[in-house]
Amino acid sequence: MVEDGRRVLANLIHSQVALHRSYGGVVPEVAARDHLEKLPGLVDAALLQAGAKPGDLERLAVTRGPGLVGCLLIGIGVARGLGAGWQKPVTGVNHLWGHIYGALLTRPELEPPLLALVVSGAHSDLVRMDGHGQFEVLGRTRDDAAGEAFDKAARMLGLGYPGGPALDRLARTGDPARQPLPEPSLPGLEYSFSGLKTALLYRLRDLGEDVTDADRADLAASFERSVVESLLAKLELAMDRHPGAEVVVCGGVAANTLLRLRAAEVVGAAGARLTIPSLELCTDNGAMIAAAAHHAPRAELEADPSLAW
Ligand code: KG4
Ligand code: ZN
Repeated sequence: MVEDGRRVLANLIHSQVALHRSYGGVVPEVAARDHLEKLPGLVDAALLQAGAKPGDLERLAVTRGPGLVGCLLIGIGVARGLGAGWQKPVTGVNHLWGHIYGALLTRPELEPPLLALVVSGAHSDLVRMDGHGQFEVLGRTRDDAAGEAFDKAARMLGLGYPGGPALDRLARTGDPARQPLPEPSLPGLEYSFSGLKTALLYRLRDLGEDVTDADRADLAASFERSVVESLLAKLELAMDRHPGAEVVVCGGVAANTLLRLRAAEVVGAAGARLTIPSLELCTDNGAMIAAAAHHAPRAELEADPSLAW
């Protein structure tokens, strides 16, 4: 629950990590069923935490996509039901817009125009935001998203689920210089992480049975460095092309320790101002969706079913 699109009153997250761990990844059907079970109680708890009644709400916000279709349908169904019962408008929000609006909850003075690097489990997009609800995608990945690459690398390194945070922790103990991996380099503002993933696979294959825990830590650090430097090289190029814009780095991968550190250095060196959402506002959450709905309510659920930026 959010006030004025810039202040969090309640942000409750029901984590499904424990539920999916035994499968080694998210099982869509299991995720959707759990959404249905947990969502109504979570809405009640958020109202309680914010000290609010349904009548106090201006509107309801729900993610309309992109995401797992079963989970989206349940969210939309619950929002529609509550909207009808409480007689409130329901706004459908693009998931990726939500990640950018999470930055406004962290720094309420932030205003467009801005450049955003949106890095999640399914997206690595460089976006220019000229005004509220006005987005232009400048570049994206040709294959894997950064989060997906981290998750797959973590699996290769035997780190289990969820992979991104585990790889982050292991990388802190490794030295990237001892097991260098290539840094992807496509022309322009496009990303590609599949070659890097293959390089890690071959390196592990070469090491075979001899691989040590220290090798794994070095490889995690090296993989992380290649992804992060590639993400930031393109962000730098986008900053050159769009001088003067504030910069946002957001999405689940923006929780990564090295990315947070290096983004501050790279954006600072370019003389621009950087906002990265606080950790709890980086990975998927309801507050960022509510903030987006406040600032860009034109995407009414009924009127705009498209999933594009
Ligand atoms: O935005 P998000 O919560 O969900 C999607 O929209 O996909 O992003 C999840 C992604 C996952 O791939 C996860 O491994 C990655 O963000 N992630 C991280 C870290 N925390 C989450 N990747 C690297 N380092 C982290 N600390
Ligand atoms: Zn997300």
